[in-house]
Amino acid sequence: MADGPPTTLDPDDPQRWQQLRAFGHRILDEMFDHLEGVRERPVWQPMPDAAREALRRPLPRGPGDLSSAWRSLQDNVIPYTAGNTHPGFMGWVQGAGTPVGMLAELIAGGLNANVGGRNQAPVELEHQVSSWMAELFGFPQAARGIFVTGTSIANFMGVLVARTARLGRAVRARGLAPDEQKLRAYTSSEAHGCIAKAMDMAGFGTDALRRIGVDGAGRMRMDDLRAQVEADRSQGLQPFLVVGTAGTVNTGAIDPLPELADIAREQDLWLHVDGAYAALGMLAPSVAPLLQGIERADSLAFDFHKWGQVPYDAGYFMARDGADMLETFAAPAAYLRRAERGLAAGDAWPCDLGPDLSRGFRALKTWLTFQVYGADAIGRSISTTIALARALATRVKAEPELELLAPVALNVVCFRYVCADPERVNREIVLRLYDEGHVAPSSTELDGRYAIRAAIVNHRTSAAEIGLLVDAVLNAGRALTQPSKESPA
Ligand SMILES: Cc1ncc(COP(=O)(O)O)c(C=O)c1O
Repeated sequence: MADGPPTTLDPDDPQRWQQLRAFGHRILDEMFDHLEGVRERPVWQPMPDAAREALRRPLPRGPGDLSSAWRSLQDNVIPYTAGNTHPGFMGWVQGAGTPVGMLAELIAGGLNANVGGRNQAPVELEHQVSSWMAELFGFPQAARGIFVTGTSIANFMGVLVARTARLGRAVRARGLAPDEQKLRAYTSSEAHGCIAKAMDMAGFGTDALRRIGVDGAGRMRMDDLRAQVEADRSQGLQPFLVVGTAGTVNTGAIDPLPELADIAREQDLWLHVDGAYAALGMLAPSVAPLLQGIERADSLAFDFHKWGQVPYDAGYFMARDGADMLETFAAPAAYLRRAERGLAAGDAWPCDLGPDLSRGFRALKTWLTFQVYGADAIGRSISTTIALARALATRVKAEPELELLAPVALNVVCFRYVCADPERVNREIVLRLYDEGHVAPSSTELDGRYAIRAAIVNHRTSAAEIGLLVDAVLNAGRALTQPSKESPA
């Protein structure tokens, strides 16, 4: 044994433990103050150069002081996040988190469980969430699900599982044979960019992904899909996968899932559904019927960190038959051998079902969110976001200076200020809104037109923020097009 001072990172006497505990309580209190006071701060504010500069420090070689590190976080980090906890945040598709989710992160950090496997309760908790989700989505008993970072990775898993289901486990050793370069996958032109990325990462290349056109409501055209699959097959190509979207990123459109499932069966395609944010609409009685057909998917990707309000990150992948996940990801390794009893017991470990070996306890924050708030409360907050989006669309239609740019399927509203130079003016409106700090939509492009995009995902957003958004857009639009009419700030 080496002589010298102890090298444990724990406090070295009860008094230091006590000091750390007291400071921990203070941090917890201040984080509660932070959440309780979220409405009193701007949604977003730019990070000043001084704050950026303050963070640029060499690797500390010696011990530091927790209170000065905490002060640095309070001064230089906490005020300058993107703002998705704020009720005025409507940018992209992001959940807001909850105070209970924050506590769950504290507990998970304390337990520091590595949920790759082994005979431990955190694995059981993850199984429990998997059972809940199988029931929610109407999947059979054999279904399995696991947590990953987000839907981007879950969609990547979907492509890999579909590949192994088509080509057999041997593909994992030999890679794609020359003839297998003819495999083709299909998704809509409105699908998220991570589907193409998944095709790239899986070695198929993005050219092997066919983009099928959409109808006026942003849903994949089923006739075009069938025609493209048949045309490809007649040319000797090998269709193997179709990726449907439940809640497109631009407008929240849901592909016609029952027809998609019919075509997948008829054409022998694996059906993967990207339900990144809208799949959890199953929790809301008003949305669940729109998702009919999702129960026929072979695999499904979604996020608890969006409409589920679980803190980042909490992505999820499910297959209707967990055996397909094992075929794709399980790998024998002597150092992971299972024992008949004891710590190393258990059959399928989470590391057999996905790409990660070391995995955090993401299941805890999801489990605690359901335990404390209940699935119905999450469903109600989902319904509220939809009602708010409809109210926003109604207001936009009623304002002659505003134009709705896409039908509102769920909770995403795309619109713009009507003027002679809409591209420049609307772009500038969004930038002004960010500077003002009351509401923060994002933007997208629809049919070549720049759109202000309000994605109402946040359980804190209320009618007040919807009113603020419309007023702020009108105000900025008028100021930019008729400067003399600018209201005083
Ligand atoms: C439809 C869709 N798919 C995939 C993703 C990517 O999900 P994540 O950011 O969790 O990786 C998103 C993100 O908004 C999305 O809306």
